[in-house]
Amino acid sequence: MPQPSELSDDEKALIAAARAAADNAYAPYSNFHVGAAVRAEDGRIFTAANVENASYGLSLCAEANAIAAAAVAGVRTLTHVAVVGYPAAAPDGPTLATPCGRCRQMIAEFAGGDAIVLVQSRDGTQTLRAPFREILPHAFGPDRLAGG
Ligand code: THU
Repeated sequence: MPQPSELSDDEKALIAAARAAADNAYAPYSNFHVGAAVRAEDGRIFTAANVENASYGLSLCAEANAIAAAAVAGVRTLTHVAVVGYPAAAPDGPTLATPCGRCRQMIAEFAGGDAIVLVQSRDGTQTLRAPFREILPHAFGPDRLAGG
């Protein structure tokens, strides 16, 4: 795992944005707060948190919300995705909230294999930094539909 000092300033800023976004998670059922921040190729950053629902299965993940916000703002290519998540009862533990399978598929729509995924524990002691191809190997993305 990389030390936080090995991250670029832009990467540290993106993680900080994800961490801040988690403060606004609406997660009264799981009590698991997740914040996500995505960086577009033009440098714009979009953040979001998870939003749960009394009909549990309708809950929306932080990454999905951030990607949707970016997409409706016209973004089509993401260079970085950052995620910070933690149980509300123990926010400063070492939890790494790696993106769920559905979110990985949503990332695949807008991120190539070289895009960087950053996951950091809220306490900053644990950091995962990996190219997206390692997070979702053999992804089914738009290139497949185009014959790739
Ligand atoms: N969650 C996310 O926001 N992103 C993920 O990638 C995994 C899970 C949310 C969904 C739910 O609100 C809570 O975390 C517990 O699963």
